[in-house]
Amino acid sequence: MTIKKILLGEEQIPKKWYNITPDLPHPLPPFIDHETKEPGAGIVPRIFPKAILGQEMSKERWIDIPEEVREIYKMWRPSPLYRATGLEKALKTPAKIYYKYEGVSPAGSHKTNTAVAQAYYNVKEGFERVTTETGAGQWGSALSFAASMFNLEATVYMVRASYDQKPYRKMFMQSFGAKCYASPSTQTESGRRILAQDPDSTGSLGIAISEAVEDALANENEVNYTIGSVFNHVLLHQTVVGLETQEQLKIVEDYPDVIYGCIGGGSSFSGLFWPFYYDKVSGKAPKETKFVATEATACPKVTKGEYKYDHGDTARITPLVPMHTLGHDFIPAPIHAGGLRYHGIAPTISVLASENQLQTQAYNQIEVFDAAKLFIRTEGIIPAPEPAHAIKAAIDDAIRCKETGEEKTILFLLCGHGFFDMQAYDEYFNGRLKPYEYPTQKVAESMEKLAKLYPWLEEANKKYISCEPL
Ligand SMILES: Cc1ncc(COP(=O)(O)O)c(C=O)c1O
Repeated sequence: MTIKKILLGEEQIPKKWYNITPDLPHPLPPFIDHETKEPGAGIVPRIFPKAILGQEMSKERWIDIPEEVREIYKMWRPSPLYRATGLEKALKTPAKIYYKYEGVSPAGSHKTNTAVAQAYYNVKEGFERVTTETGAGQWGSALSFAASMFNLEATVYMVRASYDQKPYRKMFMQSFGAKCYASPSTQTESGRRILAQDPDSTGSLGIAISEAVEDALANENEVNYTIGSVFNHVLLHQTVVGLETQEQLKIVEDYPDVIYGCIGGGSSFSGLFWPFYYDKVSGKAPKETKFVATEATACPKVTKGEYKYDHGDTARITPLVPMHTLGHDFIPAPIHAGGLRYHGIAPTISVLASENQLQTQAYNQIEVFDAAKLFIRTEGIIPAPEPAHAIKAAIDDAIRCKETGEEKTILFLLCGHGFFDMQAYDEYFNGRLKPYEYPTQKVAESMEKLAKLYPWLEEANKKYISCEPL
């Protein structure tokens, strides 16, 4: 009999996180401080606790997970790995499809894996409050939950478009005692500046990051900033996902030929595929597994963006990060996969993409919701719109297998449920969704503006980012 859900015991929650840094095909280019025009982290050391900064720079392959963090992980970890038997049957595919489900966490997504770790280190180092931005609301919810577990205060700047689309996310955060403001807000200088130019601004992650960082910097000794993606420490906290999946696949004696995940900033997908990448580089992988990141055509940072230094935020408070970018002035179309609307990506994803260690595919939101509908009706779980991009890729692959007869093993990450996304489903079922495609011309315009702003940056691009843009 086929096992539907493959489970591990609490004692099998990983004891260490995996850090990919020592195993990358070439070292990560440094951040650049736009004030000094030299490698440097700018304000970063002022907004994170020391333990987090240590992990961000760490060259250690394995990092101990504190017992206090594992204790909280026990509330939902190890998360289940499902065999998508219903979906396989509906597709009549010879492929085997597995998905790791992170929607069982208290906030409904993978984001809690790093939120708990970040809250823990902040409390340990004596900080009283943490700030952050949130797009879809998943990260803000995860941080609010984690902060409350450690009696830490939390302030969340939520992108206006999502704040209006998802009122229950705000209430969720408030239930855990967090303060949630629609961004741009009147709480910060950056927010007030944007509102003066455009009182109806629907916001962006870049703007919300500026607000959360400014808030933390204004009260440096008591308040820190936390981030839900992009930074290396966040990605490595997510590797509990992939490490558990490896143990679960051993139970059914299987191994993936291909792994799909969606990318906003790259944390959930990295959490799943990094441990399999380690298998590959350490010669332990029984197969040549392919890693495929999926993104939105409305926010195609890797498929259409350029691999260059750019700010992580709109107000240019953060240092320059080496990453695929659409430009820090990017204002996304109001697509429903709020978590995929970020203009940049984790630098490790950029290194791996430029070295052809992973591929990227972009989908529009209509085809993504079509895939989500089939998944709902065969697997019984309503996915968040973000992981529905990975579902779309897995379904397409399984259909190809039906045509070729290939009995391949497909693994994807279902990183969150969509219970707070019913407004998006309503618009989809009523034919009101649009298939946005971000124009290449707009990327070129942003890149021109960036080059005019920092004419000296081209030298740094040439010196540190050795590979040509994809
Ligand atoms: C459910 C969900 N999936 C995916 C993402 C994308 O982020 P990341 O690429 O860091 O996993 C988000 C971000 O908010 C999210 O909420």
